[in-house]
Amino acid sequence: MYKAPRGTADILPEEQGYWRFVEDRAIALCRLYGYQRLDTPAFEDSQLFTRSIGEGTDIVTKEMYTFKDRSGNILALRPEGTAPVCRAYIEHGMDNLPQPVKLYYLAAIFRYERPQAGRYRQHYQFGFEAIGDADPALDAEVIEMTWQFFKSLGLEHLFLYINSIGCKACRPRYLEGLKRYYSAHLAGLCSDCKARFGKNPLRLLDCKKPTCYDVAEEAPKSTDYLCRECKMHFEAVVGYLDALRLPFDISHRLVRGLDYYTKTVFEIQPLGEGAQSALGGGGRYDDLIEELGGKPTPAIGFAAGMERVVLNLKKHKTPVPNLPAAQVFIAHLGDEAKLEAVKLASTLRRDGIAAIMATGDRSLKGQLRQADSIGSSYVAIIGEDEVKSGVVTLRNMMTGEQKTVSAEKLKDFLESKR
Ligand code: HAM
Repeated sequence: MYKAPRGTADILPEEQGYWRFVEDRAIALCRLYGYQRLDTPAFEDSQLFTRSIGEGTDIVTKEMYTFKDRSGNILALRPEGTAPVCRAYIEHGMDNLPQPVKLYYLAAIFRYERPQAGRYRQHYQFGFEAIGDADPALDAEVIEMTWQFFKSLGLEHLFLYINSIGCKACRPRYLEGLKRYYSAHLAGLCSDCKARFGKNPLRLLDCKKPTCYDVAEEAPKSTDYLCRECKMHFEAVVGYLDALRLPFDISHRLVRGLDYYTKTVFEIQPLGEGAQSALGGGGRYDDLIEELGGKPTPAIGFAAGMERVVLNLKKHKTPVPNLPAAQVFIAHLGDEAKLEAVKLASTLRRDGIAAIMATGDRSLKGQLRQADSIGSSYVAIIGEDEVKSGVVTLRNMMTGEQKTVSAEKLKDFLESKR
C-alpha cells in the first residue's frame, strides 16, 4: 500500500471548497491592489536559495530538497517564493517597467521539516511582492493588504506584529550589542540557541523555549540601534499604519527566519497558538535583487501559508460557499433512452450547462440516489415514452415536482434557473 509521503497531504474534493474560497479571495485582493500573477518553476538552481535565504538559516541547513539532475545541475525544490520572483524580475528585465512591479503567486513550497499540525513538507503559499520602490507608504500598503486578506476571509482575532531589523549600515552594531548581552546568558540557553549565538544571533530572539524566552524578552531591541534612515522609515511606516487604523503591535522579538530582510518585518498570528502558528509573514528585502545580480532595487512582500489559513477557517467554523454541483443529472431506462441520454448530455455541455449522465446499469431509484448524493438540482429522466415523444421528465430534486419538457426547451429552462 502506497501512502502520500510523510508531511504531505492530499487535498480531497470535500476540502476544495475551502481552498477555492481562499484562492478566490487572494486573487480578488490582488486585482484590487494592482498585482499580476507570476508562476515560476517548482525547482531552481539551489544557489538561488542558499544565497538569498542565507547559509546559516534552518531552511538552508536542514530543510531544502536539493538534488542533482542527470546533467549534474544542482537544483532545489523551492523552499519559498520570494527568491524565484526576484530571479524572474531580473531575468525578464522588469526593471524597465514602471516601478514598483507588483507580482503575486500561489505555489507549492517544499521544506524538509518535522511534520506536525500546520507544518508540512509540502505546503502552499499565497505570496505577493512589490519590487522597485523604497517608499514607507508601500510598506504600509503591503501590510494593510495582508490585513485585508484575512479580513476578507472572515478570520478574526488575529494579531499583527511589526518590527524593524535595520539595514546593512546599522545591523552590525545591533548584532554586537545582542551578542554582548547574550554572552552573559549563554549557559542557560537551549542547545539550538547556543548554536545560533555563533551562526545567526538574530534568531536567538524568536526561540520559543521557556529557558530562552525570558532572556529574549530582556534583550536589546533592534529599534534602539536603527540608523537615521531606518529610524525615519520605521516611524513613517508606523504613522501610516496608525492613519489606516490597523491594530498592530511592535514586537521587538520579531526577526523572521530568512536572512534577506531589511528594515520592516511583520507577521500575522492567530489568537492563542503556539510556536508554529504564524499564518503569514513578510517584510522588506532592499538588498536581495542586487545580491542576485540585479541593480540595487528595494522591495517588500508577504506570504501566507494556505494550509494554516484553511485550518483556521475550519477551527472557527467560518462558512465558505459550496462548490456548485452539476446542475442536471440525466437518468435513463433502456438502451434507446441511454443513447438519447448520451446525446443530450453532450448537447447540454456544449451549451455550457454542467450535466452528469448516469453510467453503468443502476435502477432508476439508484440513479436518483446518485443524483441526490452529487447534489444536482434537477434530474432529466428519459424512458421509452420520452424517447418516442422527444421529451424528458424533469424532476426538481428540492421539491420532488416533475414535469415534461421538450428536449429543445430543456436548455432554456436550465439556463433560466442558474
Ligand atoms: P515564511 O515565514 O518562511 O516566509 O513562510 C510564510 C508562511 O508560510 C508562514 O507564515 C506559514 O504560514 C507558512 N509556512 C511556512 N512553512 C510552512 C510549513 N512547513 N508548513 C505549512 N506552512 C508553512 C517566506 O517564505 C517569505 N518568502 C515570505 C515573504 C514574501 N517575504 C517577503 N515576501
